[in-house]
Amino acid sequence: MTGTKRATLLLVFFAASVSSLYSGATELRREAPPAEQAASASTQTAVLSFEFFKTKVQPIFLKNRPEHARCYGCHNLSNRIFHLETLSPGSTDWTDEQSKRNFQSALEVVVPGDPASSRLLLHPLAPEAGGDPFHSGGRQFASQNDPDWLVMSEWVRGVGTEAVSESASQSLTRIYVTNSASDTIDVIDPATNKVVQVIHGIELPHGIAFSPDGTRIYISNEAESVLDVVDRKSGEILKKVPLSARPNNLAITKDGGQVLVGIRTQPGVLDVIDTNSLQRIKSIPVDGSVHNVYVTPDGKYAVSGSIENKAATVIDLHSQQAAWQVKFDRPVRPLAFETNPDGSTSRIFVQLSGFNGFAVVEFAKRAEVARIKLPDHPGGFGIAEGRAGTPSHGIGVTPDGKSLWVNSTLANAVFKYALPELKLIGYAQLPEVHPLENAHTGAVPEWITFTPDSKLVYVSDSAARLVSVIDTQTLKEVARIPVGEVPKRMNTLVLH
Ligand code: HEC
Repeated sequence: MTGTKRATLLLVFFAASVSSLYSGATELRREAPPAEQAASASTQTAVLSFEFFKTKVQPIFLKNRPEHARCYGCHNLSNRIFHLETLSPGSTDWTDEQSKRNFQSALEVVVPGDPASSRLLLHPLAPEAGGDPFHSGGRQFASQNDPDWLVMSEWVRGVGTEAVSESASQSLTRIYVTNSASDTIDVIDPATNKVVQVIHGIELPHGIAFSPDGTRIYISNEAESVLDVVDRKSGEILKKVPLSARPNNLAITKDGGQVLVGIRTQPGVLDVIDTNSLQRIKSIPVDGSVHNVYVTPDGKYAVSGSIENKAATVIDLHSQQAAWQVKFDRPVRPLAFETNPDGSTSRIFVQLSGFNGFAVVEFAKRAEVARIKLPDHPGGFGIAEGRAGTPSHGIGVTPDGKSLWVNSTLANAVFKYALPELKLIGYAQLPEVHPLENAHTGAVPEWITFTPDSKLVYVSDSAARLVSVIDTQTLKEVARIPVGEVPKRMNTLVLH
């Protein structure tokens, strides 16, 4: 990011909230042309959260971290880059005024939204972990999983700006990403493509769904075999509902009355959780242990897919019993639904293990009618990553029903097909990953979700700790959002 651009971002923040407090800001303000200044100020709110900085990040600079000198000890020297204010005699914390000046110093060594370019994160990080070769203050953080480093990274990604952006508009869209090898869920604001909230404390989170009013989030928790019920705004866990066994993905009924959780162990059931009592009220038998479960767009059926039994089971949600099923020659992976003009389901697109493409099931015929293979080019990915057995994982139909999007690990790309013709339109390339001293490898895309206007598709790049944002018309990647460890399932929350 250029100096001018950074100055503009800083300036927007100052203009929005704390302009009077800085003498240092005057200089930055002069750099930005008035037109640009006005444009950014009207479209952006606070770039990074002062509150999050003060309460979560700043304490790290004062903290005695084992075997390390405190950041404060060196960085309070007056001419030091990343200058920290000197504490008043006798006090163990900074005042609000001082914190605001520290905030300004810290903003000078970060690029909002981009931890990988932020010196605050890179300079004190060990070189083996991706940090700078030398810091006079030493290798303060041995890895990018150091809890303190993660807090600083959350701040840089924009966490804490949620309150500001939420009150600014009435309708709200958020993209939720479960970090499957972590205990966090990242929440992205698609207006800025920044992470605005991180939900903590759910180890091995799998699927995610929302109550229709947006007050609650439901997350299946593999480590504890529970359904975590989370207050959306605060991110606090309200309740852990015990499941019959280890879960995978989940879905919520259209009226929000029940959460259906796919149970990963044989013989295979959907646990039904009543959202009023927050109790498991029954388990519906299906054909085989469940990998993913969906509710059809008309709300009438649930469909579960089984790896072990190579089957998709359709459950009538009225009778709450399996109605019919389709058997395949391969394990069933994610599914997507196409609807008729009246909203009923016309086709199910089914991804299968070992097949770089998808099967097409006609709902009325209750049978597979076609199998579509993705193009062989581009290719060359997926082998080194050990993912050749799952060449295509993640599939979705845009909310406007006009296109189908299909991930390919082998192509390191996402393909677009026009509906209903199933005509291949093209593909968007995903980021490459370059582990030290290895050949470049792919992003291992896992899941897909969309903005409600069908303009953007979000792909979780599980090997790259990223979410790629792709323009559905130009097929260009328009943003890369750093998220947590091995991001997989995603879901879009829309509130009006
Ligand atoms: C022993 C003293 C010392 C300690 C402790 C220390 N630093 Fe530094 N830091 C320095 C010096 C000196 C520099 C100037 C550049 C250099 O020599 O690395 C610096 C530079 C930096 C920079 C600026 C890099 C740039 O290129 O703009 C950042 C950011 C930084 N330190 C962060 C931290 C953080 C965060 C901590 C605590 C976790 C910390 N430092 C602890 C001495 C220290």
